[in-house]
Amino acid sequence: MMLKEALNGVLDETELKKVIKSYDVIGDVIIIRLHPDLKPKRAIIAEALHNIYPRVKTIAAVPLYSHTDELYRTRELEVIRGDENMETMHKENGCIFKVNPELVFFSPRLSYERMRVAMKVLPGETIINMFSGVGCFSIVIAKMQPQTKIYSFDVNPYAYEYMKENVALNKMEGKVIPILGDVREEQRELKSEAVGADRVLMPLPEEARSFLPVAIRALNLDYRGDTGFIHYYDVSAWSVKGACDLFTASAQKAKDIASSAFGGTLSVEIEEMRVVRSVAPRKYHVVLDLRVVKTSAQ
Ligand SMILES: C[S@@+](CC[C@H](N)C(=O)[O-])C[C@H]1O[C@@H](n2cnc3c(N)ncnc32)[C@H](O)[C@@H]1O
Repeated sequence: MMLKEALNGVLDETELKKVIKSYDVIGDVIIIRLHPDLKPKRAIIAEALHNIYPRVKTIAAVPLYSHTDELYRTRELEVIRGDENMETMHKENGCIFKVNPELVFFSPRLSYERMRVAMKVLPGETIINMFSGVGCFSIVIAKMQPQTKIYSFDVNPYAYEYMKENVALNKMEGKVIPILGDVREEQRELKSEAVGADRVLMPLPEEARSFLPVAIRALNLDYRGDTGFIHYYDVSAWSVKGACDLFTASAQKAKDIASSAFGGTLSVEIEEMRVVRSVAPRKYHVVLDLRVVKTSAQ
């Protein structure tokens, strides 16, 4: 049964219109966005959700206009029913992830995107995941393509600890390498060991633009070969009709950043682009798969 259906006759028409239809089920935790006017009704909404998912241990609400932590990308959550401890085990793409959505970023809505990226990886690749969270992209890739090594950075100490646990839970030791710290600092260390990546993941749409030169340097094209791949995430707004407009500005910006940081020494081609998810009315997370090709010595 759908949530709105379950609340029909319990909330009035005006209240029902303010109920957000979609919510995230993460293991045995549900997170629902809550309109401020529905705060007094949160226990009723939680009860209805619990009737639909009787095995869920915690139901938490995120205020509709909540603040997202700029660095760790976590949100303010309020438990509206059940256990205050939000740690849970989530299954996805044949992997298992231990997470606490109060302490780390986690979105089950990225499940398809994680598999899409994993399907592109070739045997033997060295990969850098700049913003790994609890390690989901890296672990799904290693599961799909065991002959890979994925250096997986995150600045959030909780995410790093969960990533280490998830690497062990999924038996990915030696394939997924968790690294704690700001990728800009930590990746320099790796570079000194002459590790160059075949592929770089940048799943931080709000900030990826400012990290693009770091990602291109991580490809270490002089050391590795002529071509590298970057999965570049961005935020895009739908200003006029036509899906192309969601990508044009992002693609141009990526090319401009590469050209101002590296001049004519490389070219950036767009291999594939897609909308990952909607994040606000007319606002989307998009991904552009970039093929970066060295055109002359850097
Ligand atoms: C949107 S989350 C992506 C999480 C993950 N890729 C996933 O699929 O669940 C972005 C992550 O980047 C991390 N982060 C933000 N700035 C960073 C930086 N400068 N260096 C390393 N990690 C960073 C945050 O802590 C957060 O866990």
